[in-house]
Amino acid sequence: VDTVVEQITVEAVALELERPLDPDALVDESAFARDEFLPYWASLWPSGVALAHHVARLRPTGVRVVELGCGLGLPSLVAARLGADVTALDWSPDAVSLLRRNAERNGVRLESVVADWRTPGPAADRRFPMVLAADVLYEQRNAEPLLELLERIVEPGGAAYVADPGRRHAPSFLAGAAERGWQPEAVPDTRIPNGAVHVLRPG
Ligand SMILES: C[S@@+](CC[C@H](N)C(=O)[O-])C[C@H]1O[C@@H](n2cnc3c(N)ncnc32)[C@H](O)[C@@H]1O
Repeated sequence: VDTVVEQITVEAVALELERPLDPDALVDESAFARDEFLPYWASLWPSGVALAHHVARLRPTGVRVVELGCGLGLPSLVAARLGADVTALDWSPDAVSLLRRNAERNGVRLESVVADWRTPGPAADRRFPMVLAADVLYEQRNAEPLLELLERIVEPGGAAYVADPGRRHAPSFLAGAAERGWQPEAVPDTRIPNGAVHVLRPG
């Protein structure tokens, strides 16, 4: 696929991001038939940009971070550049291999793994003080597995940062989080005017 390389500045962090030129060209009919898989990973969504800025402002030096549904993984790249110990996860092997290339291109180290957050395998055996996810609430089927996973992987005293542009299933996700004892706090961001970066701390 044809790609472009974009210069991106997130707070004080300057990065180069290689991304597919035309994400729609990646639609694979057989993968869609199997698991309604669409190549959403190939775009840089405003939520990912908002989350990257939020993470940069948190200065995550030395913090263990995991990003779920990372796609192009801008928040992961920014966190890694600032010295965090980052694991990024996506179920798309293409997303994971492009993120590896982008990490190399920017001289940062991170771990990127192909995993489904419904059955995340080894990624669910560890707890993290900082769990990131951007624009993952666009389908009802995502909400419940994400809430279950957050319970398992957010360290006591830690937080999940879920950036959402105002997707239809965000309210039920947040209601489910509150029912499970999380205390969601919405931090507005002009890049996602109908949404927010939702900070979820264990109650
Ligand atoms: C709308 S995109 C957002 C990508 C990126 N976080 C951003 O904001 O630019 C949703 C991402 O979630 C990933 N995803 C969807 N369902 C998943 C699952 N069950 N397990 C892991 N990743 C998943 C997709 O491959 C895609 O990269």
